[in-house]
Amino acid sequence: MENNNMMQDIQEVLYSEETIAGMVKRVGAEIARDYADKNLLLVSVLKGSVAFMADLMRAIDIPARIDFMSVSSYGSGTKTSGVVKIVKDLDINLEGYDIVIVEDILDSGKTLNYLMNMLRERGPASIEICTLFDKPERREVDVYAKYRGCEIPDAFIVGYGLDYDEKYRNLPYVGILKPEVYGG
Ligand code: IMP
Ligand code: MG
Repeated sequence: MENNNMMQDIQEVLYSEETIAGMVKRVGAEIARDYADKNLLLVSVLKGSVAFMADLMRAIDIPARIDFMSVSSYGSGTKTSGVVKIVKDLDINLEGYDIVIVEDILDSGKTLNYLMNMLRERGPASIEICTLFDKPERREVDVYAKYRGCEIPDAFIVGYGLDYDEKYRNLPYVGILKPEVYGG
């Protein structure tokens, strides 16, 4: 067998594919129940939420539309700069839609706080947040995610969409990196 360098960088697997699948199914069922008679639009925040979005939308068994936007708030480090830049905006006019923003992880909250305020001004019928992972200890601004996969402690995680320096997004599970990978 060839060596797999990506997996060699992982110190510990925190959430297996099966565990993640279970969380996604549960959250999908919650959204399907709450939006059965609404006009659901799932807004995926690229790139981190791409794996979650792909699985979550298939766990929602009611009519739904999807759209994507891309914002950047990180350089190659592990901390939010506080500056959120719209790299790709939505295609759909939000008026009348019940928006669920789909995010990979809620950390300081700065990114989602900015996004919520921006999207609210576009006149949707309602707007809520769905995040796979939540790090409540790290919160710097008050942001509420109605739908959450799970709470995690303050550690930097990668995989299932989450990156370090744009790498590891394609890991099928979520883990923590070995400290030497950060070059520290
Ligand atoms: P916030 O603005 O601090 O809440 O940052 C949210 C964004 O930071 C996420 O969408 C991720 O791109 C990134 N991020 C925060 N924590 C992690 C992590 O543990 N691993 C990978 N990316 C993270
Ligand atoms: Mg990122």
